[in-house]
Parts: sequence; structure tokens; C-alpha cells
Amino acid sequence: MVPSLTRTIFASSWLLFTIARADAAPSRPNIIFILTDDQDNHMGSLDYMPSLQKHLIHQGTTFERHYCSTAICCPSRVTLWTGQLAHNTNVTNVNPPWGGYPKFVQNGYNDHHLALWLQQSGYNTYYVGKLFNSHTIHNYDSPPVSGYTQSNFFLDPFTYQYYNVSTTRNGAPPTNPVGKYSTDIVAESAQEFLQHALQDETSPFFITLAPIAPHALVGEGSVGAFDPPQVAQRHQGLFPEYKIPRTPNFNPDSPSGVDWVSKLPKLDDEVVDYNDEYQRLRLRSLQAVDEIIEAVVARLDQARALENTFIFYTSDNGYHIGQHRLHPGKTCGFETDINVPLIVRGPGVPTQRITRVPSSHTDLAPTILQIAGVEIDDKKFDGSPIDIYGTATAARSEHVAVEFWGYGLAESIFGRKNGPPVYPNNTYKGLRIEAEEYGFYYSVWCSNERELYDMKARRIHLVDTTVIINGDNWPLGKVVDRLDALMMVLKSCKQQTCIQPWKSLHPSANVQSLSDALSAVYDEFYREQLKVSFTSCESGYILESEGPQAFHAYEDVKHYSPDDEIYDPLKQQVLVNPNWSLWE
Ligand SMILES: *[C@@H]1O[C@H](CO)[C@@H](O)[C@H](O)[C@H]1NC(C)=O
Ligand SMILES: *[C@@H]1O[C@H](CO)[C@@H](O)[C@H](O)[C@H]1NC(C)=O
Ligand SMILES: *[C@@H]1O[C@H](CO)[C@@H](O)[C@H](O)[C@H]1NC(C)=O
Ligand SMILES: *[C@@H]1O[C@H](CO)[C@@H](O)[C@H](O)[C@H]1NC(C)=O
Repeated sequence: MVPSLTRTIFASSWLLFTIARADAAPSRPNIIFILTDDQDNHMGSLDYMPSLQKHLIHQGTTFERHYCSTAICCPSRVTLWTGQLAHNTNVTNVNPPWGGYPKFVQNGYNDHHLALWLQQSGYNTYYVGKLFNSHTIHNYDSPPVSGYTQSNFFLDPFTYQYYNVSTTRNGAPPTNPVGKYSTDIVAESAQEFLQHALQDETSPFFITLAPIAPHALVGEGSVGAFDPPQVAQRHQGLFPEYKIPRTPNFNPDSPSGVDWVSKLPKLDDEVVDYNDEYQRLRLRSLQAVDEIIEAVVARLDQARALENTFIFYTSDNGYHIGQHRLHPGKTCGFETDINVPLIVRGPGVPTQRITRVPSSHTDLAPTILQIAGVEIDDKKFDGSPIDIYGTATAARSEHVAVEFWGYGLAESIFGRKNGPPVYPNNTYKGLRIEAEEYGFYYSVWCSNERELYDMKARRIHLVDTTVIINGDNWPLGKVVDRLDALMMVLKSCKQQTCIQPWKSLHPSANVQSLSDALSAVYDEFYREQLKVSFTSCESGYILESEGPQAFHAYEDVKHYSPDDEIYDPLKQQVLVNPNWSLWE
């Protein structure tokens, strides 16, 4: 009896000891962030990735309505790593003076970004692949990227050469491992990083894997000469039957959109065939990424670290091929371009869950800091943590701010057949609203053309003067007045204003959604609100060209001067085509 009693006491005091230790130093989770380049969410690319399906979608939560705010690589990546919208980072395109790595550095973000904050809080941090555009074999060390314990960055002008990428390992002079498939380099670094990270039992880790796939191949020195991605030998010829979904917005009989999009000719059969093969090559290029998921999960599992590791999977921006008659590319505000994959698995994240609550790339840095338990002093986030545990009780806001400056780009041989594959004046503001009962995409271009898409118009016949919201018919002008006012706030918002924009319009009323704002009480206020407009088309964020910046709050309505221009929605060309979103 006595020995047994002793053992019991011993055992329970040991138990107490371990609990106390766990309380004092809870082990912080590891985070793996997989960031693909230009992956679509609307041409089935996720369906062709079996390991992603098995280990992430089935073991985690899919955020079906996750958006990038600027549909091109560098601005979108800067938003990811800073939690700020492009109009606040002023990294608005891929090359200086508007964007690229030099602009990221120049604007102070090499000292303010997610990996650095995590590293300062005790995380080991790693990055392999493309970080930003214009991060080159010439400027990789002036200055070096801050915030990484180990790194293997792909450098311009070789970033998009699948078999001749240039890489700098931990800041060393770049080398080209010629003939080695780009995504397999990511796979190798992933295993090396995991080996290093798992050896350190006292620090959690944050690893970003940023393969090029399925981005177009871009030849050295031939700016804009895009071709389909190259595929690893072992994946050639896969999916011969695949075709881009022939949704109602696919190569439609009548033109789509506004501005340059409305002038695109219908694609002929030769181009459509080429485009189908283009997307097959993209799907094949993603197979090497899928293998990375398999290998990373296996390694974590083997090290018994899987349970304490979050895995995020997303893309910098989306992609279109053939929708709205477009050649392969991004840069547009269409759902194909802005709605990107986001899947999260990890401790406490519900499995096999799909949520349609909208979120944006501005939310990911705050989300990751929250799960890492890191508080920073100088955060300037334009987003807020995503409810990855599916436990939120309060409704999340229904808006996503979208913005773009510069040119549109056609990334195929047919796109450059008649000159440079560049569409000028692709500068616009967009606003995506997604609620259970309604969904809109509203956009104002630098030409002051406007467009509105009813994203939920499935099988409802619309006459072009009303839209249906919560079962009621609303005059188009009234709805556009509200959307325009919300865009007016968002186009120059900072932090809390971006997170709760209706509050700026109604500081003392409980208006939190489009539905609330539709109240007839506010009709006059919204009709007379200053409208989003541009005075010219610029390649970057030139404040003077972006029309009025200030707006009226509801409470200030009495301060309107008689000289304020009264907006007449009937005089504005608002284009509505319910068919463009039927495939939704
Ligand atoms: C690979 O890149 C190097 C420059 O780093 C270049 O000199 C060489 O021609 C390229 N090789 C191939 C096969 O493209
Ligand atoms: C682009 O915008 C500029 C300035 O707003 C204008 O002068 C020019 O004509 C536009 N170009 C095209 C091709 O629309
Ligand atoms: C953004 O950067 C461009 C290029 O350097 C500059 O001309 C512009 O004034 C900046 N915009 C703002 C709002 O600071
Ligand atoms: C929408 O689609 C219907 C059926 O395909 C067609 O009859 C109608 O003309 C289309 N409307 C527009 C505005 O394109």
C-alpha cells in the first residue's frame, strides 16, 4: 500500500509541475504560410491539387470570400506583410517609382513588416521564393531584407524563369542553379528550414513558401513577353481534357465592362484553344506546389509538430483567362482577379468548414499576430483578425476595398500580337460588398466611367433601373449613392476607418451595412454626398488627380453649401449587366 501511495503522490505532484510549466510558458504555435503567384479561384485550380484538398481543405477552413485589395503581385504582397492598403503604403505597382522592393524599402517597410515583428517576438523566421518584384540581383543587399532567420529569395530579372532562377541564400551573392525547377528549389528550402526550425525546441517558427507557380514565364530582358508557366518534367501532359469553365462571363457575345475592357474583341477559336492549354499548363505547374504540401505535412507529422502548426494557403492575386473576353492576366476588379484562395488549418480551426464571410489580405498580418500572441506598438493595420476559429458572434463587416493604378496587362502571345500587351489607364477604385442577401461590385474608373455588378442576380431578371436587396426592389440610383459614399470613405481610409467605414458617414447612428444605409431617411444625404471622381488617369497614387478627398458625415448635412454640385444619378452612365455574375 505504502509504495503505491507514494507513487500516486509523486505522480500527481509531477503532473502539477508540468501544468504549472505549461501555464508559465504556453508553447506558441508555428505558422507556415504558402503563397502562390497568380493562382485562380474560379477556374478550378484548387480541385486539381489533391494534397491541398486532403491536408488543408479537409483539415481546415476555406474562406470562400477572401479578396486581395490590389490585383497585382507587389502591391498585394506589401499589403499582406504590412496589413495596409496600397493607398497607405503607396506601393502601387511592380516597379519604381510606383512600387517594387526599392519602394517598399524607401517607404520604411523593411522596418515594419510581419516577419520582423514575429522575429522580434522570438520566432525563427524563414522565406523561400519570390518576395517582391524589382528585388534584383543588383539591389538584394542594398539593403538586405530584414526579419528573416534564413532566406532563399528569387531575384529579378530571373524570378519567372522556371529553369534558370537566380537566388540569394541568406544574403549571399546570387547564383543561378540552372536547370533546377524553380518550385523544387522551394521544396528543398522548405525541408532545410523545417530541419533547422524543428531543432530549436524553445522557439516557434514562421515559414513562408512562395513558389512562382502558376505565374507566367517571363523572359529575361523582354518586358511584357509573357508565356505560359513551364512545368516539371514529371507533370507534363496532365489533365488533357481540362477546359476553362464556360461560364456566362466567358468570352461573351456582347462586350463586357467599361473603358478598355469594353473595347476587347471576342476571342476566336484559335485563341480560346490556346487559352485552354495555357490554363492546363498552370494546373500542371501547381502540381509541384501540391507536392510541397504533402512533404511539409509529412515532415511536421513525423516531428509531432503538426498539431501545433497553422498552415495558411493563399495567392497574391487571382487570374482571368477568357472571362469578359480577356487574354490571360490579372489587374482587373473582376471576381476572377480579386477573389483569391484562402485556406487555414491549425489548432482550434474547424475542419471541413467553408465560410462566406468576406475578408481581405489586409486582415492576414493582424490574424497571424493574434494567433502568435504578439502585440506591436506601431501597428497601422487597415484590416482586423479573421475569425479563423468560427466562434465570432458579432457580424463582420461586409465590404472589401479594391484599388488599382496603372496599366492592364495581357500575358500571352495573342495579347501582344498587335503591339505591347499593355492597356493604359487601368486606374480605378472598386468596392466589393458581400452579405448573405446581396452582393455587389461597384467600380469608378479614372475616366469616371462607373460599373455595377449584382453578384447575386442568379436567375432574377433585372431591369436596369432597380436591384433587389433583401427581397425588395431598390432604385439603382439609391443603391449606387450608398456604394459611392462608402467608396469615398474607403479610397483614402486609414486603419479604423477602413475597418468600420460606415461609422465615418454616420458617427452617431447605428449604420453598419448597406442594408442599414438604405433607409429612406438618408436618401437626401446620400444623393448630395460628394462623389468619387478623377480629374486624370495617372500611373500611381497622385492625390491631386483623385477628385474630392473629404466627404460629408450625416450629422454635417446642414453644412452643405448651395454651390456643392448636386449629383444626379440619371446623368451618370452606370452600367449594369446581371449576366456577368451568373456563374457565381
Ligand atoms: C541563366 O542565367 C544566367 C545569368 O545568371 C545567364 O547568363 C544564362 O544565359 C542563363 N541560362 C539559360 C540557360 O537561360
Ligand atoms: C488616358 O488618360 C489620359 C489622362 O487622363 C488621357 O489623356 C488619355 O487620352 C487616355 N488614354 C487612353 C488610351 O484612353
Ligand atoms: C506615391 O508615390 C509617388 C511616386 O513616388 C508620388 O509621386 C506620390 O506623390 C505618392 N503619393 C502620395 C499620396 O504620397
Ligand atoms: C442575359 O442573358 C439572357 C439569356 O441568356 C439574354 O437573353 C439577355 O440578352 C442577356 N442580357 C444582357 C444584358 O446581356
